[in-house]
Amino acid sequence: MILGIETSCDETAAAVVEEGTAILSNVVASQVDLHAQYGGIFPEVASRAHIERIYPVVDRALKGAGVTLADLEGVAVTQGPGLPGSLVVGINMAKGLALGSGLPLYAINHLEGHLYSLWLSDNPPGEFPIVALVVSGGHTELLLLHGHGEYQRLGGTLDDAAGEAFDKVGRLLGLPYPGGPSIQRASEDGDPNAVDFPRVWLRGDHGERTYNFSFSGLKTQVLREIRRDVPDYKPDDPLPASFPVADMAASFQAAVVEVLVGKTVRAAHETGAKEIHVSGGVSANAALREAITSEAPIPVRVPPLALTGDNAAMIAAAAYWHRRDPSSLSFDVRTTWRLGL
Ligand code: KG4
Ligand code: ZN
Repeated sequence: MILGIETSCDETAAAVVEEGTAILSNVVASQVDLHAQYGGIFPEVASRAHIERIYPVVDRALKGAGVTLADLEGVAVTQGPGLPGSLVVGINMAKGLALGSGLPLYAINHLEGHLYSLWLSDNPPGEFPIVALVVSGGHTELLLLHGHGEYQRLGGTLDDAAGEAFDKVGRLLGLPYPGGPSIQRASEDGDPNAVDFPRVWLRGDHGERTYNFSFSGLKTQVLREIRRDVPDYKPDDPLPASFPVADMAASFQAAVVEVLVGKTVRAAHETGAKEIHVSGGVSANAALREAITSEAPIPVRVPPLALTGDNAAMIAAAAYWHRRDPSSLSFDVRTTWRLGL
């Protein structure tokens, strides 16, 4: 049994996981309401909220699992990437618990956590290689997993992450933060073919296909569409009631999903992977889940909705399946960490 702790962004989370698959407790204190008024995450507010919440959240995770530190085999914590002022709260809590109890401390990469959200299952994956798409607010990475801890990076975003694009376009369309779920909801009444947003396939220098992504241009295209109707529109201005928000949201979502699915499915063909895994906050997206499941030539796994966003169960699972050197904790504030490099 491993206690996981996650505070990389705006969720204060702790969980107890048994044998890397069974969740005994999974506590997530979301700060989304605190940040909604700013239309994005306010790092100082996040850090303070983590400080207030970390102790009760860990306490609830232990009590919820019916265990004490003496029952555990280790403490796992997200060491990056993330907001430095947020990460440091979880790291110090985990270090203190490990030092005080003599338990080993596992330092986990947040992206690796998302990968291992797919192992929290009665029927965990058994066969490699696996093509894994990690799509969150901070990252869009396409990886080939050869084994536990053996990651090869196929490609990733060159600019905005997929979730970041959802959040920015949501804000442009006047939808509540975070943009991802809001755009999904708005899309339900919209026509995905209303606006033909570009599909950015990003060929290489010699016209070859790549596994990279670019989403920042889409946001500019959305702004251009808005300005066709409202010429002097500035971000955060209210849109006229007649503006086709649902069509715009559905068309934007379709453009993002088509490229994510197209590249992931091609990677599956070209690598001979046995399974496709999709994880991270954007893997909650219904259009993405539906498209990848129907177009993939091999089995697809997506996490249950409760494990798509940030949580600590995935951090504990990563520690179980890919135990690191317990002395590997090095607090590193780089925000562009990539797996496989
Ligand atoms: O994994 P996550 O909780 O945090 C990071 O590690 O970044 O991902 C958060 C991101 C946000 O950008 C949010 O808008 C997006 O996931 N998201 C969605 C959906 N639910 C959350 N994007 C599209 N559709 C959704 N249903
Ligand atoms: Zn995340």
